[in-house]
This record gives sequence, structure tokens and C-alpha cells, in this order.
Amino acid sequence: MKTPWLDLQIHGDERGALVAIETGKQIPFAIKRVYYIFGTKEGVVRGLHAHKKLRQMTFAVQGACDMLLDNGRERIKVHLNNPSKGLRVEPMIWHEMSNFTPDCVLVVVADELYDPNDYIRSYDDFLNEIKKND
Ligand code: TYD
Repeated sequence: MKTPWLDLQIHGDERGALVAIETGKQIPFAIKRVYYIFGTKEGVVRGLHAHKKLRQMTFAVQGACDMLLDNGRERIKVHLNNPSKGLRVEPMIWHEMSNFTPDCVLVVVADELYDPNDYIRSYDDFLNEIKKND
């Protein structure tokens, strides 16, 4: 599995840096929702699910964490620590975030509103869904 990175332009000058994210430009879907994860306690693993339809892009705008991406056949572990890089999390990708630094802020943009029915929260169910679609 190739790491689905998205490189963003940094608009920097002597005052510091700015990164912009726009629908249809850097992001290949219409953004309907933005959420952010911060204050994650030491040793916590978040995520632990796949989405049936949701498309997302994740940015570590501060600090760092690891993200495991698993398509049911292969898994890769990615280190997120660069505010000018986005990581795509497509539908039917099991994902887990871990090793959060105390200052880590993850910003996530998504193409749909929050829908608990879009979640697959059991890894076995996830693998069964993948096999069904093979
Ligand atoms: P959760 O899905 O457990 O987070 P993660 O997958 O990162 O471990 O979400 C934590 C809580 O936030 C849970 O009560 C659901 C709620 N939530 C929303 O209300 N809206 C959202 O867009 C998201 C992602 C979560």
C-alpha cells in the first residue's frame, strides 16, 4: 500500500507560516465536516474502526502521532508530524492512531456529517466486508 500523502503549500514569510485547505483544490471532495482531536492521554489508541463510505483527510497541525492504515490485505504505519502534509483515509480502511505526543492536534476534514451507522467497529466485521467485496 502506498502511503496516501497529500503535500500542502506553506505560505510562509517572516511572520511565520500558513497552510490553506480548500474543497476541489487540495481536497478531492467537498468538505462537510471538520473535527479535531487534542489532549490525547499517554498510551491511548484512537480510531480502531473503518468507515463504509466516509472520505477523510488528516493533518497533524501540531505535535505527532502514528497512524496505522489497513486495507484488509496490507497494513502500513505512518508517522504524522508535519502540518504541511495530509494523510488520506479512504472508505474501508481500518485505522488506528497511537503514540500521541501531549501537544498533538489532529485536524480531520470529511465529506459527510457525523453518522455512527457509517462505522465498522469490529476488525472481524471489517475483514468479512472486504472478503465479500473481493
Ligand atoms: P470517536 O469516534 O470515539 O473518536 P476516535 O475514532 O477518534 O477514537 O469519537 C469520540 C466522541 O466524539 C464520540 O462520542 C462520538 C463523537 N463525535 C462526534 O460527535 N462527531 C464527530 O464528528 C466525531 C468524529 C465524533
